[in-house]
Amino acid sequence: MEKIRENFDLQKHNTFGVPARARYFLALTTEEDLHLLPGLLKNQELLILGGGSNILFRKDFEGMVIHPVMKGIRVLDEDRDTVLVRAMAGENWDRFVAWTVEQGWGGLENLSYIPGNTGASPRQNIGAYGVEVKDHIEWVDAMGLADGEYKRFDQAACRFGYRDSIFKNEWKGLVLVVSVVFRLMKRPVFRTDYAQLEDELQRSGRTGLADIRAAVINIRKRKLPDPAVTGNAGSFFKNPVIPLSDYETLRREFPEIPGYPADENRIKTAAAWLIDQCEWKGYREGDAGVHPLQPLVLVNHGKATGQDIFNLSEKILESVRKKFGIVLEREVTVI
Ligand code: EPU
Repeated sequence: MEKIRENFDLQKHNTFGVPARARYFLALTTEEDLHLLPGLLKNQELLILGGGSNILFRKDFEGMVIHPVMKGIRVLDEDRDTVLVRAMAGENWDRFVAWTVEQGWGGLENLSYIPGNTGASPRQNIGAYGVEVKDHIEWVDAMGLADGEYKRFDQAACRFGYRDSIFKNEWKGLVLVVSVVFRLMKRPVFRTDYAQLEDELQRSGRTGLADIRAAVINIRKRKLPDPAVTGNAGSFFKNPVIPLSDYETLRREFPEIPGYPADENRIKTAAAWLIDQCEWKGYREGDAGVHPLQPLVLVNHGKATGQDIFNLSEKILESVRKKFGIVLEREVTVI
């Protein structure tokens, strides 16, 4: 099939900007293209690649990369208080958020300026400043890669967790997210309790929907490197969730350790703090580095390979394990 490219360069398709190639690469532009998939995928390793903003290639990918770029935003329904909006998987996430804010519809504003495409948003249940995308997802339409059948996952069926969903687990590699349907608020209830966001809004003295989006963009621009300038994939590790008893033991030795209740018996602590305590901030080894302002973010200063960045992440993991007995989990998908 002529649409399939061979030996395809992925350097511009991953926000780390590391060199990697795909044996085969197929961009899906229309829903019709989707129907080609079942036939193509037999005995083939498969990788679905959206904006490439949450992935690290340690090596070339020997199978087929599927790159969904289907576009389109549509209002499906509305009532007095809410509106149901469908966005196709290939819509750039932040452009979609900007559009919802322009309509005056609330829900996604705290998730402004997150890189990547809409189709990936349910997979890792993207979250920032006190909001997770699951809070506003009504359902996800996906296509079974083996049978070409559409499957609808309502909110509960997605089994969302912290940076987690059924698409990373049971259905991993088996379905392609085609579109995501969101329920947004016509009279938005703002979520501004996250300390950094509260501070930023207080400074500007404004509290409308567009102001929240602007404040989030300001904070992110200040703290997080722009992947167009410095390769990165946002948070490299997840914030660890540990048993309350472990947390209390640690707090005796490290009274400053941050902690937020995750559930009755577990505490979520800050990976950035743990890494910071191991003095990694601003560290650099060749072109692989740790961001000086947010140590949870690993960066490519230019010519780092995926393996260089992975090696650095191993050292960080080991140092945190040694000092705190906590094993960090990578948030980024490693190939
Ligand atoms: N901290 C330090 N040193 C630092 C930075 C942070 O000790 O240099 C500690 C502080 O105690 C701070 C805490 O870490 O209160 C948390 O830091 P921050 O508010 O920056 O957020 P985070 O937990 O590090 C998470 C998400 C980000 C999201 C922000 C804002 C994860 C893995 N990361 O980071 O998401 O933007 O909250 O809500 O949950 C991403 O997933 O790629 C991502 C960027």
